[in-house]
Amino acid sequence: MKVLIAYASRAGSTKEIAEFIGEKLRGRGVEAEVQDVGSARAAGGYDAYVIGSALYMFHWMKDARQFLSKNRDLLAIRPVWLFSSGPVGVQKTDSAGRDLRDASVSGPKEIEELKEAARPRDHHVFFGALYGEKLRGGIGLTYRFMQRSKAVRESMPDGDYRDWQDVATWADSIADSLLAPGTTVPIQS
Ligand SMILES: Cc1cc2nc3c(=O)[nH]c(=O)nc-3n(C[C@H](O)[C@H](O)[C@H](O)COP(=O)(O)O)c2cc1C
Repeated sequence: MKVLIAYASRAGSTKEIAEFIGEKLRGRGVEAEVQDVGSARAAGGYDAYVIGSALYMFHWMKDARQFLSKNRDLLAIRPVWLFSSGPVGVQKTDSAGRDLRDASVSGPKEIEELKEAARPRDHHVFFGALYGEKLRGGIGLTYRFMQRSKAVRESMPDGDYRDWQDVATWADSIADSLLAPGTTVPIQS
């Protein structure tokens, strides 16, 4: 049983979520490899896939979207789980009372497309981490521009809001599924 955990992360917090999922799966006796989705060229050879991306402007990062579309035939015949990491702040709901862990609120907007490509068993939105001052390049500029709005400043506070218990529970549910008899078709090498 070999699982690929492929992530797309700009500032590193999604990478750490992926690494944590890897540790949890290994702790349950599942062989788990964690790789940047951009460098995970050889997608074949795994029994299952966990694929996640940070959310920026309500979208998954390009590398993660491409990984799904390029490997859709392979993913169609393997168990797949998707995650997104994004919402920040201590509130679990937005100002309209909507759950921030709902993809229709935080993104990705292309969730139906991603589901169509990967046919995942689940998609989970995790809270993320944000340290705006450290953001460089285009995303740093976008962030600083967005920060001119009071509403954005309030809804995107700096800090680490990752809920490791939530990640652990989700990783455990994946391990439960993978270890259940008859879950995976043996890979043909
Ligand atoms: C410019 C900008 C746009 C963002 N857009 C979203 C968004 O649309 N939805 C969301 O939930 N989080 C959004 N976030 C928060 C990030 O997704 C969050 O900081 C995430 O943990 C970053 O992951 P990374 O450290 O792996 O890059 C945004 C952050 C920045 C700086």
